[in-house]
Amino acid sequence: MTSSTVAKQDDLMDRRIGLRLSGPTLSILCHPCLAGHAFYRNTGVRLIGGIRGRLYHLTALLFSLAWICPPGPRLTFSTLPWLFFVQMERVLKDDAVEEKGERARMASFIGAMAIADLVKTTLGPKGMDKILQSTGRGRNVTVTNDGATILKSLHIDNPAAKVLVDISKVQDDEVGDGTTSVVVLAGELLREAEKLVNMKIHPMTIIAGYRMAAECARNALLQKTMDNKENIDKFRSDLMNIAMTTLSSKILSQDKEYFAELAVDAVLRLKGSTNLEAIQILKKPGGSLKDSFLDEGFILDKKIGIGQPKRIENAKILVANTAMDTDKVKIYGARVRVDSMAKVAEIEAAEKQKMREKVQKIIGHGINCFVNRQLIYNFPEELFADAGILAIEHADFEGIERLALVTGGEIASTFDNPESVKLGHCKVIEEIMIGEDKLIHFSGVEMGQACTIVLRGASEHVLDEAERSLHDALCVLSQTVNDTRVVFGGGWPEMVMAKEVDELARKTPGKKSHAIDAFSRALQAIPTIIADNAGLDSAELISQLRAEHHKENSVAGIDVISGSVGDMQKRGISESFKVKQAILLSATEAAEMILRVDEIITCAPRQREDRM
Ligand SMILES: Nc1ncnc2c1ncn2[C@@H]1O[C@H](COP(=O)(O)OP(=O)(O)OP(=O)(O)O)[C@@H](O)[C@H]1O
Ligand SMILES: [Mg+2]
Repeated sequence: MTSSTVAKQDDLMDRRIGLRLSGPTLSILCHPCLAGHAFYRNTGVRLIGGIRGRLYHLTALLFSLAWICPPGPRLTFSTLPWLFFVQMERVLKDDAVEEKGERARMASFIGAMAIADLVKTTLGPKGMDKILQSTGRGRNVTVTNDGATILKSLHIDNPAAKVLVDISKVQDDEVGDGTTSVVVLAGELLREAEKLVNMKIHPMTIIAGYRMAAECARNALLQKTMDNKENIDKFRSDLMNIAMTTLSSKILSQDKEYFAELAVDAVLRLKGSTNLEAIQILKKPGGSLKDSFLDEGFILDKKIGIGQPKRIENAKILVANTAMDTDKVKIYGARVRVDSMAKVAEIEAAEKQKMREKVQKIIGHGINCFVNRQLIYNFPEELFADAGILAIEHADFEGIERLALVTGGEIASTFDNPESVKLGHCKVIEEIMIGEDKLIHFSGVEMGQACTIVLRGASEHVLDEAERSLHDALCVLSQTVNDTRVVFGGGWPEMVMAKEVDELARKTPGKKSHAIDAFSRALQAIPTIIADNAGLDSAELISQLRAEHHKENSVAGIDVISGSVGDMQKRGISESFKVKQAILLSATEAAEMILRVDEIITCAPRQREDRM
């Protein structure tokens, strides 16, 4: 008997028990029970087995008792059934949980604000870092200031908090920077919204106000953007300022000028493309961060095979992903019976012959360099060495993908049609030394814009964080090369937007104006947090900043280095307009999405039905 049949029989038994319980009651108190039954049918509650079946009949019994009781106890018997009704009215399955109305909204607000508060302390150039330690094997440690990296590694249960984690990830993928700001702004918008909801303003009114405010803020910022795309020198200095502002909140802040130079050079080589695949970041522990350098071409962290040439000019490269380890007998899943060792030797010889033919086919492509993703065993390595071919084994997948991209080749796995295989080309392949390690350098590659940034640093943790910071800078710069509009940083954009939004609030009649006003306060929270994180008197600085921004064309922002309100143009604190716009729009959309929620339903995953 299968488990589903057992389950069905149990169900039937339950129903019978339910009926048995109510059987005598039904016969004595037929009329009220029938009335109760009719009521259940009309309200859409089905006759259900199990515990609910029993509740069903118990309710009928209580109704019946209420019917025949004297007036005193009648009250008790007629109120009790309603308690059971509450249980029986459930539409959802037993394992689903519902939170409604105000409770659901509160749960969302609290979750989102908790996430925003978590990353808030990392915002700005004086923001702190966080240590993330995994509880899994190895207990890996990451030290970071990057909002997206912190949020990605959290296991979160609250659905609203998950929405914020998601916008941070999207911000990271789209523009690379501003992953903390977007979450902080969304959190502040919700904090303000909570106050409005408590004042009995409907969430839809708040959403309408926020939408108007976001549009107004975007337009205000758009009008204040600067664009130097016509002037190459000025544009380069814009890029340098943007890179330095991005790096100033990260581990590379000490050498921000040096790294900003590296990043700008690397991005300008791309000539407008946003394909950051062409820029390889290679981490080599040892030395100090200042020993990092930019190298034109491609560097592969692998070794050249024994007895093979260490330098090749005018290289023709075959990039492959194929098994080159069959010089050993490996027969999986099959049993081969032999009656003597001579037979084993025969099989080995046959395998070797197969490998020799494969190597001949590869050499037949007219190449002088062969790069394989998989291992190359001794026998094929010898064959390549005899033919004077440089063979590189076990180049990982990212390695060969990048190599194929920059040398203009394609990854091959069969070698029967040499004419259909696209080879990669480069001018020189040679072995180089970085620190104590030997690496292979491909220079004069087909994709001229490709380059490698070699990062040096005291430890793996330092290098990992340096890579993340540099990645932020490279992303922002590549976006700025495409959209050359630039704004100042240090809270300047938020103050510009807040001022316009404030004015809109004053002009707008009705309850929406409260929401618009709240939006302006949420925007001002960003410079407040930057100042707080730097240990400055934020209330004093923000009031000074607000007064400064009432003057026309103000360039005032928070200068955390001098601890006062300063000229952002002179300090060279600039940011990409695209990043600021993405922060504004994503944060508003996320806040709107969370505000719309009036019910959270948690469902267990659907159980798999047992098959007969
Ligand atoms: N020297 C500076 N003085 C004042 N504010 C600065 C300075 N440098 C950067 N900022 C401001 O700091 C904020 C950026 O901080 P941070 O880089 O920590 O966060 P993020 O860019 O939002 O997120 P993440 O870099 O983690 O993706 C921006 O608003 C920027 O204008
Ligand atoms: Mg940043």
